[in-house]
Amino acid sequence: MYQGFWHFSHISYDVFSVEAMMTMQNTFQAQPTDIYLITLPKSGTTWIKAVTYAIVNRERYKNSTLSSHPLLAYNPHKCVPFLETEVFGKTSVYVDGCLPRLFATHIPYTSLPQSILDSGCRIVYMCRNPKDVLVSLFHFTNKLRDKSRCQMAFDEAFEMFSKGIMPYGPYWDHVKGYYNFSLEHQKNILYLTYEDMKEDTVNRVKHIAEFLGYPFTKDEEARGVVGEIVRLCGFKSLSEVNKHGDFREGVPNDAFFREGKVGDWRNHLTDEMTKVLTQITEQKFHGMDISF
Ligand code: A3P
Repeated sequence: MYQGFWHFSHISYDVFSVEAMMTMQNTFQAQPTDIYLITLPKSGTTWIKAVTYAIVNRERYKNSTLSSHPLLAYNPHKCVPFLETEVFGKTSVYVDGCLPRLFATHIPYTSLPQSILDSGCRIVYMCRNPKDVLVSLFHFTNKLRDKSRCQMAFDEAFEMFSKGIMPYGPYWDHVKGYYNFSLEHQKNILYLTYEDMKEDTVNRVKHIAEFLGYPFTKDEEARGVVGEIVRLCGFKSLSEVNKHGDFREGVPNDAFFREGKVGDWRNHLTDEMTKVLTQITEQKFHGMDISF
């Protein structure tokens, strides 16, 4: 645990350790033009990466045939690197050279490099209903688990999650940190939920584009560019593109695409589990305008 949040203690799946994060906290230099996509794992990171990448790079690919768009060939995680793993970890360093620099991170607010907060850059924070995060994380963890280990039972996953134990958790503190920051810095941080994105994707995509300073023109809207981006980044398209291959050793591309729905927790949680998580959530988010 570091600064109130759980992290990988040693270099393993994420090729990132607390030590690397401390170095990053002290040395990373953000630029005012940077864009940071911040999420907890399993909150729609892959989706928001794809959407943002497609929005800010749409001029770059407007003359290419649709089939040559990077999101039709690569995992969105290849298009937008994680600050902590690809940039500060020991995996291949991402060099794109194009502006704006687009990064993602799961790092909680309390441990974010100060230069990101001071630079005036744009941050998009996306969170998701805790019950669906738990279910998604449970399946993801089991899928990636070394075959020599037995699968994690859902009861065990539930116990850990409700105690706050998950990568970059406790869930509630992560959401709270960025939510509170967003109240005071609305120009710099856009707070979104996976559920809102699902409910009205077109308008959310337009909102994100506007917030990032890349609004769609009337002409683009008339030409259906927004709809194209929504389709390109939709679950159906991305899961099809990422059916095969690996993102990294031991991490198949298809691990990031399971159901892509709101409310799958109803198929996993008992009434008692539902009651416990609802209570914790109400208590932790008391007085805040967050409704899950
Ligand atoms: P489920 O396991 O509930 O299906 P992350 O990207 O943060 O790892 O989150 C993964 C979750 O987002 C998974 O949820 C996955 O199916 C869902 N997801 C991935 N791409 C999506 C998309 N384009 N639209 C909606 N949901 C998506």
